[in-house]
Amino acid sequence: MLDDNSASPASPGLWALAPNTPAPRSSAPPPSPYYCTTPIFYVNAAPHIGHLHSGVLADVLTRWHQLRYNGWSRDSPAPLGRGKTRAILATGTDEHGLKIQRAAQLAGKDPKGFCDDVSQHFRRLADEAGLGYHTFIRTTEPRHRDAVHAMWRALEDGGHIYKGKHEGWYSVSDEAFYPLAQTRRCRDDKSGEEWVEAIETGQRVEWTSEENYKFRMSAFRQPLIDWLEANPSAILPSTRHVEVLEEVRSGLDDLSISRPSSRLDWGLRVPGDDTQTIYVWVDALVNYLTVTGYPWTTAAASGEDSAAALLHRAWPASHHIVGKDILRFHAIYWPSLLLAANLPLPRQIVAHSHWTMEKAKMSKSRGNVVDPFHEMQTKGVDVVRCYLCRMGGGLATDSDWSEGTLLEFERKYLQGQLGNLASRIRGKKILARLPQADEQAGGKTATVSRPGPSASSYSAKLDSLLCSTPDDFSLRLERCEVGQAVEVVLNLLGACNSLVQSAEPWSPATAQEVVEAAVYYTYETLRLTASLLGPVMPVKMRELKQSMGLQLGEEKDDAWEEVIRVRDEVKVPLSGKMKPLFPRRDD
Ligand code: MSP
Repeated sequence: MLDDNSASPASPGLWALAPNTPAPRSSAPPPSPYYCTTPIFYVNAAPHIGHLHSGVLADVLTRWHQLRYNGWSRDSPAPLGRGKTRAILATGTDEHGLKIQRAAQLAGKDPKGFCDDVSQHFRRLADEAGLGYHTFIRTTEPRHRDAVHAMWRALEDGGHIYKGKHEGWYSVSDEAFYPLAQTRRCRDDKSGEEWVEAIETGQRVEWTSEENYKFRMSAFRQPLIDWLEANPSAILPSTRHVEVLEEVRSGLDDLSISRPSSRLDWGLRVPGDDTQTIYVWVDALVNYLTVTGYPWTTAAASGEDSAAALLHRAWPASHHIVGKDILRFHAIYWPSLLLAANLPLPRQIVAHSHWTMEKAKMSKSRGNVVDPFHEMQTKGVDVVRCYLCRMGGGLATDSDWSEGTLLEFERKYLQGQLGNLASRIRGKKILARLPQADEQAGGKTATVSRPGPSASSYSAKLDSLLCSTPDDFSLRLERCEVGQAVEVVLNLLGACNSLVQSAEPWSPATAQEVVEAAVYYTYETLRLTASLLGPVMPVKMRELKQSMGLQLGEEKDDAWEEVIRVRDEVKVPLSGKMKPLFPRRDD
């Protein structure tokens, strides 16, 4: 992990500046960093695999942008090209509100102590999963309180807040108000118990009738429509973009943005009015600004090369990664608040689908949640990360969690394809057939050349796959389709395995040029895989690179050009042992 101000060996280069370290001077202003966020997690209960899912997707995208691009231009969403990226990933915990207040009461703890405890679990989750975060933000931090208050004042100064009476249904579990039409009455025939619940989430709602502050969200209906129409990929996947646009077109109500402190004590008070506590979603959403140093007073004072100025340039965020259940808050409430405060809107909001358990939504009350710590300890961190990405990385459809499928995925693709190729290339019988041995710093290597155009059709197929894979992979990640991007690499590995299988380079009967072609393509396939899947499995792909005698070159200025350049020849290490990349469980 990367802490606010420190670099970690697990994620080299994600955050290249130490605090207050001036960036190298150049005539052009430094580019905006890539800035990606995870949702901040409620601390009412321990983390589950769905939380890890949001975190891993954001981490993969951040590492990918670090590898691929030189920052992000403020004026255009297009990547800038060569050079060193500064990529910022932010994650953290959402600690205010009735939901947390009640969870603390139930645990018999004071809210702050309760939040300190549970927040630690989320931080440990991010650390153990290797999330290269720059900031772990907690909404109970003073810097966040200051940012929320600054936002409130900006809304107030713009005349967007008024005091009014609010009556309606509130779900503590969702921390959301629901209009009557979005609720239904329910009755349990056995017990006779009656309740009202939100149709969308199935969570119970409570009737509230109170004085509170309201935000004139209705005034932002047309500006929101204009934004969504002008930016057809503002929300991914596109089906969600269409849904949000329809919802906005159908009309926006004003939003209650505070609750009486007598009801909601655990939260930030409204500036200048202690009798009201700020609505937890307004509080929570501002975290994305807090991370960048909002309201940016230090940045303005410290010069454009300072770390504070770099963070300021990180706004607007490049990507907000969120689950589909919280899209409305991010795609309607958040842009309205930003527009009202005259702040730029995030570039893209990515809504991912959910993990289910036997097709049912995971929830603590159903007792069907998967423990991410247990999964990482028993299957390995990178195996879990890759499985989450490949099987759950599709944005459109939910995926059902199954231990059997995870083990099958590991056996078939990670051990059977990737691990198999990596160990085959070190096979004694194969290495013994390689001709020229050069002495290198790290030991002996054999030089093997790229087969010419007249080589077998298998070689030709692999050659063209090696050339097209980086673009195919990039295309998927540009659409944030992480699962599809992983699949592109798995296809390359599958094709390479087939080539090796039919070439039989271990057999003494196999012709010399066929042995060398098999070794060449295996090496190049693994080299490309190690780079492309580096964001998904950072530790394993580093191990793979090391075992292949490759430079760990992400820091190089032209890293991407190096990654995609198909080599004329490769240098295969002849010495050195390699442990299996993905050991079999019975090994
Ligand atoms: N605190 C709010 C977010 C505030 S962001 C300004 C919140 N927290 S949460 O802990 O309930 O959820 C955090 C993330 O976990 C959300 O993106 C949510 O979609 C995700 N997941 C929760 N359950 C999930 C699954 N079963 N599957 C995949 N992701 C899911 O909402």
